Amino acid sequence: MTALKNDTFLRALQRQPTAYTPVWLMRQAGRYLPEYNQTRARAGDFLSLCKNPDLATEVTLQPLARFPLDAAILFSDILTVPDAMGLGLYFSQGEGPKFERPLREEWAIRDLAVPDPETHLRYVMDAVSQIRRALDNQVPLIGFSGSPFTLACYMIEGGSSQDFAQVKAMLYQRPELLHHILDVNARAVTAYLNAQIESGAQAVMIFDTWGGVLSHAAYHEFSLRYIERIVAGLKREHAGAAVPNIVFTKGGGHWLESIAATGCDAVGLDWTVDIGLARERVGAKVALQGNLDPAVLFAAPEVIRTEVARILERFGPGSGHVFNLGHGIAQHTPPDHVSALVEAVHQLSGKYHA
Ligand code: CP3
Repeated sequence: MTALKNDTFLRALQRQPTAYTPVWLMRQAGRYLPEYNQTRARAGDFLSLCKNPDLATEVTLQPLARFPLDAAILFSDILTVPDAMGLGLYFSQGEGPKFERPLREEWAIRDLAVPDPETHLRYVMDAVSQIRRALDNQVPLIGFSGSPFTLACYMIEGGSSQDFAQVKAMLYQRPELLHHILDVNARAVTAYLNAQIESGAQAVMIFDTWGGVLSHAAYHEFSLRYIERIVAGLKREHAGAAVPNIVFTKGGGHWLESIAATGCDAVGLDWTVDIGLARERVGAKVALQGNLDPAVLFAAPEVIRTEVARILERFGPGSGHVFNLGHGIAQHTPPDHVSALVEAVHQLSGKYHA
């Protein structure tokens, strides 16, 4: 195994010194790139793209061909796990993800089983090893999964939701049923992420997109507790290298101390938090990833540069910061503005790394 040519991202996650602040972007491969839309059209639809390792490799590399990003992220989706549990994932045009068989009956919940990632999610493992080969050690590859609670939201609602009424009804009326789903999900996610690590993922991230809709007490009991179990079960080393992990709860700014206490290496921040204050709160324990508002990318390059400078300045000197957006890149983002962002992070961050 040859050494990584650019290990800035992995070093920053472990709070080791780097020459500059590394940057990658959530949803860096996606519909804002014309070449992505072309490959997706060749695949037929989004899910066929995810399930085809050749095409998934192609789109993973597309943003790296355009921008000098410091990490690649596996092209896939968090909902492949409930799909592998038999819920029947599909994407209807303009309506986002949907399940043919959402969890509506108690017997279906009791029947849920942990899928074997090496068989039921073989196409993801094949994509991971193929992407690693194609990357040729230029930058590290990030693997990912949804959090047990975020997956449960889609499994119970059957798709996206405004208010998560059904999930919350179950949480308060039948908490033992929701705990059962979360327990299965936590075991599934642990096995899935460890399989990605064994296939070649060099860091892993847990996306808790909907944990932030919960009350303080419910967040700890129904989301964070299961994330903590996953973190405790993750492989921390593979092929002689450390495999750091990142936990991202959107809307989790109130709970940074609890998130940092899960034992994760890094905490993802959405754009509502001041990264300087976040560093004061948890920076001695974990690295921080974030946290530019994705909407800044609709403004002119000079504005993008000013906003990047503000975040770098607020984080301040030293390692432990991975620059990113506070959530996924928006569909109509001009690709040139992404160039301006990446360039600004690389140019302006050197002075914070003596
Ligand atoms: O970051 C990356 O570049 C890696 C790829 C990635 C995708 N989804 C690709 C995708 C990752 C990490 C995800 C995670 C994901 N998927 C999350 C958690 C992160 C977040 O955004 O909060 C969630 C909640 C999902 C579920 C999901 N998949 C949604 C809500 C949607 C959007 C539906 C829509 O039409 O806007 C998807 C589809 C999806 N996942 C797309 C991409 C590039 C767009 C699909 C397309 O090409 O039509």
